[in-house]
Amino acid sequence: MDVKTVHGFVGNELSFAGASADAGLKLAETMDADALIAKVSASGLRGRGGAGFPMGMKWKFARAETRDPKYIICNADEGEPGTFKDRLILTDFADLVFAGMAIAGKAVGAEKGILYLRAEYAWLRAHLEEVLERRRKAGLLGGAILGNKAFSFDIEIRMGAGAYICGEESALIESLEGKRGEARNRMPFPVQSGYLGLPTVVNNVETFAWVPCILEKGPEWFSSMGTEKSPGARLFSVSGDCKRPGIYEYPFGVSLRQLLKDVGAENAKAVQVGGASGVCVPAAQFDRKLAFEDLATGGSIIVFGQERDMFAVAENFQHFFAEESCGQCVPCRIGNVRLHEAIGRMRQNGLDAKTEQTLRQLATTMQTASKCGLGQSSPNAFLSILDSFAGELPAGKA
Ligand SMILES: Cc1cc2nc3c(=O)[nH]c(=O)nc-3n(C[C@H](O)[C@H](O)[C@H](O)COP(=O)(O)O)c2cc1C
Ligand code: SF4
Repeated sequence: MDVKTVHGFVGNELSFAGASADAGLKLAETMDADALIAKVSASGLRGRGGAGFPMGMKWKFARAETRDPKYIICNADEGEPGTFKDRLILTDFADLVFAGMAIAGKAVGAEKGILYLRAEYAWLRAHLEEVLERRRKAGLLGGAILGNKAFSFDIEIRMGAGAYICGEESALIESLEGKRGEARNRMPFPVQSGYLGLPTVVNNVETFAWVPCILEKGPEWFSSMGTEKSPGARLFSVSGDCKRPGIYEYPFGVSLRQLLKDVGAENAKAVQVGGASGVCVPAAQFDRKLAFEDLATGGSIIVFGQERDMFAVAENFQHFFAEESCGQCVPCRIGNVRLHEAIGRMRQNGLDAKTEQTLRQLATTMQTASKCGLGQSSPNAFLSILDSFAGELPAGKA
């Protein structure tokens, strides 16, 4: 499907449409690393891939590392169910992403960048290579960017492995090194020991795209949008039972109710915020805010209409996690299979109090004892659906 036919904009344009990658890059060329880090820190930019880690702080940690070479990795794996905003950014605003990566390189002292592209986006590669080549020819990428011999940075595109876990930054790095995509232990973090054991900054596509915009328009422009804890605006991928699915941009802090009105889903039954690993929000909570301090999300919003069977939704998500678990640790490898089987049984037979207690304990164990974010977040949808929709299960005992 041509993504341009499914844009849904609030207002007429995304902020990215009015931004100039080159204006931001030209300013960055004149600034030293400390000034760049100070600007991005002042904007309050937080990662758009899910966890919301402050970008300025990540740069500061990477800058402080003394080992070379350092790497800048753009996480374009976009594997979270219901997320497709990075595909739009890479299609229409790749210059912003590549400029953002180069600026990150200048800030932390890295000259090499890698864009890790989701395997299913192979068709985008030729377009991205063209943009890279155009930027090299224009002196915006490669050796001596804008004629500055102290500013060199180039980007290579590497293809993803077709696995959800490879979006997790340490599994992504393993995959880049030619190994199985499996999460690493933390510590150390990638900024200390990442690609090839060297200091590495990993950020989401959208996070990089905001960087030149912040330099061009100023950190105050950015932080004047959103909330105190979640400054700025972000893109949301909206899908499911709504009249106008698409990509929407809002400042952080917008209510779910407002978004549902704009996408034509006022009568929704529930919304899955944050994809399969996020939480299911029932209609009674639609005044909650989309922000890191309330409903955090990597940008995926899936709307469920009144006719949806919510435990069928939970079963589907749990099946996804059972399939996508990398299998390294028991709570995730076994827990997701058991939870998936149990949801199938409860849809047939209902749920008694004892079984509910056992399943909640299993879910808590998975959240606390799994090694990485995949297992830790995998029971979230089930638990939130159980909290809000247990009344939809058939009466009886499991
Ligand atoms: C299972 C799993 C899948 C993930 N998939 C993605 C992804 O597709 N894209 C992404 O940017 N971050 C993804 N993340 C988050 C990354 O690990 C990492 O936090 C992020 O790339 C950092 O960039 P940011 O600070 O700009 O958000 C995933 C995390 C987990 C646990
Ligand atoms: S939590 Fe799941 S995906 Fe993560 S390391 Fe353990 S088995 Fe692998």
